[in-house]
Amino acid sequence: MKAVTRAIIPAAGLGTRMLPISHAVPKEMLPIVDLPAIYYLVEEAVLSGIREILVITNRDKDAMEDFFDDSPSYEARLRASGRDADADRLREIARMANIYFIRQKEAKGLGHAVHCARDFVGDNLFTVLYGDDIIFSKTPVCRQLIDTYEQYGRAVVGVKPVPMADVARYCSLKIAPIDGRDDCFFCDDMIEKPKKGQEFSNYSILGRVLLTPEIFDILKDQAPGAGGEIQLTDAMATLARERGVTALHFEGERFDMGSKLGFLRANVVRGCEHEEVGEEFRAFLREFAKNL
Ligand code: UTP
Repeated sequence: MKAVTRAIIPAAGLGTRMLPISHAVPKEMLPIVDLPAIYYLVEEAVLSGIREILVITNRDKDAMEDFFDDSPSYEARLRASGRDADADRLREIARMANIYFIRQKEAKGLGHAVHCARDFVGDNLFTVLYGDDIIFSKTPVCRQLIDTYEQYGRAVVGVKPVPMADVARYCSLKIAPIDGRDDCFFCDDMIEKPKKGQEFSNYSILGRVLLTPEIFDILKDQAPGAGGEIQLTDAMATLARERGVTALHFEGERFDMGSKLGFLRANVVRGCEHEEVGEEFRAFLREFAKNL
C-alpha cells in the first residue's frame, strides 16, 4: 500500500464571510492567539507524517508565503536584542515542511483549486485540508484518515453529523456502517448543498479528505455545480458512485475560520489553553461572563 506523503491546502477563496478584514488580510492568516490559521493546517499535516505540502493561493495572499519563509534581517534584530528563542522558533516554522505555493488564477471553486494541484500530486494519494477548517484533535485528522485508508483501501472523507437544518449549507452523504462500527461508513453517493428533500443523511464532509489520483480525471471535465462553482463534492460523488469511498466520523473539534463566529470560538478555546496568557485570560473570561 502506498504511503501518503502529499497534502494540498486550498486557500484561494474570496473569503466573503470574513469581510471587511479579508479584503486586506487572507482569512488563512487570521490569528488564533499568536499563530495564523494556516500554521495549524501545516502542523496537522506534518504530525500526520506528511512533509510535501502545496498551498493553492492567489495574487492577494503573499503573506502566507512570507510567514513560512526565513526573515534574516528580522531574525538578526531579534538575536541582537537577546531574543534567540524567538528567532529559533521562526527558523523552526520555516523548516517544518517543504511548502510549495501555486496560484489559482480565478476563484472558480474548491474542485478547480484542487485540480490546480494535479502535477504536484502525480500518481500519488493525497490529503486535502480545506484552508479555513481548523480541527483540534488528539490524533491529527489527516492521520485518522490515513489509518482508515490503510484499513479499507479506498478514498476517505472526514465527516460529522450536522443539525438537519444546516445540511443545506454543507453536503449530504449516502452511507451505511462498515463492520458494525458507528464511526466508519461506506459511502456510495453524496450531494453538495442539497435542497429540501434531496438529503441522504445529516452526515457532511467537514474539512478533510484523502483522495486517490483518479479524482483528477473526473475534475478535468467537472461542470460547475452549486453556486456556479466547480465543486469538489460533485467530483467525489462520481468517485463514490463508481468505486465507493469510506466516510470516517473523525475525532476532533472543528472551527470554521472562514466565519466570524468560528474565528472567535477558536481564539477563546486556544486563548484559555495558552501557556503564556491562558491563566489570565480564563480569569478575565470568568469576570466578563458574570455580566453577560
Ligand atoms: P469556501 O467556500 O469556504 O471559501 O471554500 P470561500 O469561497 O473563501 O468562502 P466565502 O463563502 O467567500 O466566505 C473552502 C476552501 O476552499 C478554498 C477556500 O479558500 C477555502 O479554504 N477555495 C474555495 C479555493 O481555494 N478556491 C476557490 O475557488 C474556492
